[in-house]
Amino acid sequence: MLAIQTIQDEILELKKDRRAVILAHHYQNEEIQELADSIGDSLELSRRAQSFDGDVIAFCGVWFMAETAKVLNPTRTVIVPDREAGCSLVDSCTPEQLAAWRRLHPEYTVVSYINTSVGVKALSDILCTSRNAVAVVNSIPADQPVLFLPDVNLGNYVRKQTGRENMRLWQGACIVHATFPARRLSKLRAEHPEALVAAHPECPQDVLAMADFIGSTSAIIDWCASSEAGEFIVMTESGVRHSLERRAPSKRFYFVPNENCNCSECPYMRRNTLEKLRDALRDLTPRVELSPDLIRRAALPIERMLAVK
Ligand code: 13P
Ligand code: SF4
Repeated sequence: MLAIQTIQDEILELKKDRRAVILAHHYQNEEIQELADSIGDSLELSRRAQSFDGDVIAFCGVWFMAETAKVLNPTRTVIVPDREAGCSLVDSCTPEQLAAWRRLHPEYTVVSYINTSVGVKALSDILCTSRNAVAVVNSIPADQPVLFLPDVNLGNYVRKQTGRENMRLWQGACIVHATFPARRLSKLRAEHPEALVAAHPECPQDVLAMADFIGSTSAIIDWCASSEAGEFIVMTESGVRHSLERRAPSKRFYFVPNENCNCSECPYMRRNTLEKLRDALRDLTPRVELSPDLIRRAALPIERMLAVK
């Protein structure tokens, strides 16, 4: 097996030849994050996909994020190291299911989380991410009823923050965050009584109720880095540890293992490897291909979201 450094050198060479930019989500392996031009949460990566010089976007994250980058960059080639890097939230609501839900509630405004397929985005009125979901829902007139999908935990959190009763929630969930058990968090908190708790809003309500801070992956990293505290229990995918330790090397971070894998890793995100990234840059595949009509229809709700301050 080639050494990590050798594969990283090959990737940097290919990146130059292809005039590529590497975007990496916080949940990627450390060796991938080290090569990235930009590391961020899904909102930041969507914005950065809009403003760079080059021909190819190598998106080290999951497929829906790469689809979003393609919608915002229709003339560029967008590749992902592994085509099977999916998301349980995307799988929980198909375009056909959303179309049927819309038909049942034609007067509602559809707010879709960015963790959806491009087909679902194209049927939505506006998108949101974990960072801006409260602001997006607040941008809709208070008397206008909302269909929120697909994450029930994020939906419950937004409903609480906005005080909106007129929100119907799809019952999807993230296989990682939704299975963090509150009792394991309580146990870890008892072992580290000084630690503050930072949680992603995809966590269940009993976990969120124990959090000192709730936010997107980047918001969690910013908050832990700028807080006066020295210890944190972090209720999200453990890939954020690399950015946390880079930003705050003297602080301590603890993660709660979920009940599926006894770890805090997203099995979809972790499908991407250095070898697959190198091969994708060499072969320009797996590549996101979308019809011009789908791109046009999905762009509108994404642009509406990006316009919300
Ligand atoms: P962020 O938008 O916070 O990066 O979250 C993306 C995600 O998939 C969380 O599981
Ligand atoms: Fe999807 Fe959950 Fe993985 Fe995020 S952590 S990509 S929401 S399965």
